[in-house]
Amino acid sequence: MTPTSDAQLKAEAEAKPQKTATDAYLGELTGEELLIWRMADLPNRPSADERNMQTEFMMGWYCVCYSHDLEVGQVRPARYFAQDLAIWRGEDGEARVINAYCAHYGANLAVGGKVHGNLLECPFHAWRWNEKGACEDIPYSRAIPPKAKRDNCIPSWPVREVNGMVMVWYHPEKAAPQWEPATFEEAGDDSWTDFRTYEWHVYSAMENIADNAVDVSHFKYVHGAKSVPDYEFKFDGIRRIITSYLKMHTPRGEIDGVIESVTVGPGQGYVRFSGITDTVMMTGTCPVDRDITHNRMAFTQPKANVDGPTAGLTKAIVKDITRQFDQDKVILDRHVRKDPPMVCEGDGPFGRNRVYYKQFYASHNKDKPEAA
Ligand code: FES
Ligand SMILES: [Fe+2]
Repeated sequence: MTPTSDAQLKAEAEAKPQKTATDAYLGELTGEELLIWRMADLPNRPSADERNMQTEFMMGWYCVCYSHDLEVGQVRPARYFAQDLAIWRGEDGEARVINAYCAHYGANLAVGGKVHGNLLECPFHAWRWNEKGACEDIPYSRAIPPKAKRDNCIPSWPVREVNGMVMVWYHPEKAAPQWEPATFEEAGDDSWTDFRTYEWHVYSAMENIADNAVDVSHFKYVHGAKSVPDYEFKFDGIRRIITSYLKMHTPRGEIDGVIESVTVGPGQGYVRFSGITDTVMMTGTCPVDRDITHNRMAFTQPKANVDGPTAGLTKAIVKDITRQFDQDKVILDRHVRKDPPMVCEGDGPFGRNRVYYKQFYASHNKDKPEAA
């Protein structure tokens, strides 16, 4: 976008984020180097206990892989919730997830295992497992041990495939799903682009990363924002809705922008940008371990906008959000968890946010969370 008057030039200069301490840390990381940094290991960090990380994962729906990364007949290993998983797609097109270790002799089914029809065949002695974790076939034996025939002989996971994501339901006691994941009409809509995807490992726990969205005072210091927009926070059952209103100076004049950021349970969320340019960002956040979280962001925009007059702006939004998350990662990778944090006037609603997240800890709340 090209400013056309002195006033617009001034407005742009004012709106431009300032350099922050995290930028100095990130240095000139770009391109492939930046992608590697986002997922790289962080060796020699203090232990999860030392950092006071939560000992329990929250119940909910979580993305364990993108649909386009799982072809028919493919099996993938994954590690989430401090467990090794095997994810596969049967010849009927359905995605399935069970724990990775074979009940026979403990081989990892996802490493060398193959898909046989809709079953997952172990690489060690070829026992074949279904999505309920029951053995259906042992090619060299006339009888299957009764224990192996039972559901959850290998622990299995409820799966939903929505919005181009394979999602599993996590509950520490394996209780049944208590709500369904949200679906977005833009996903798979021909007039919207395919999702552009980004990912990070953040060395912190989910709830701490979630606090970031309500932490209004860090925008200036971590992200270099000149001013903080007006926010509204709403907590409604399993949903947290944050609406922010901002004014953008553009060559076409001042535009009122609205950013609606919705969390549907701990693992799933979306952000809708409107006014400025239509963009939808889906998020998938999933714990790998107590102090490692896999964060996914997937962006889609109306195809009509991608090459149109707002093309530059749509690209700038994606770049800005991913850069902000890089900056957050620098801090969150290294913090210790304060529970509760010491707060002052001008801080965001940390306390209310923690109350919202509490409902997803099975140990804190035996009641059923309210439906969406
Ligand atoms: S360990 Fe899997 S079939 Fe033997
Ligand atoms: Fe942030």
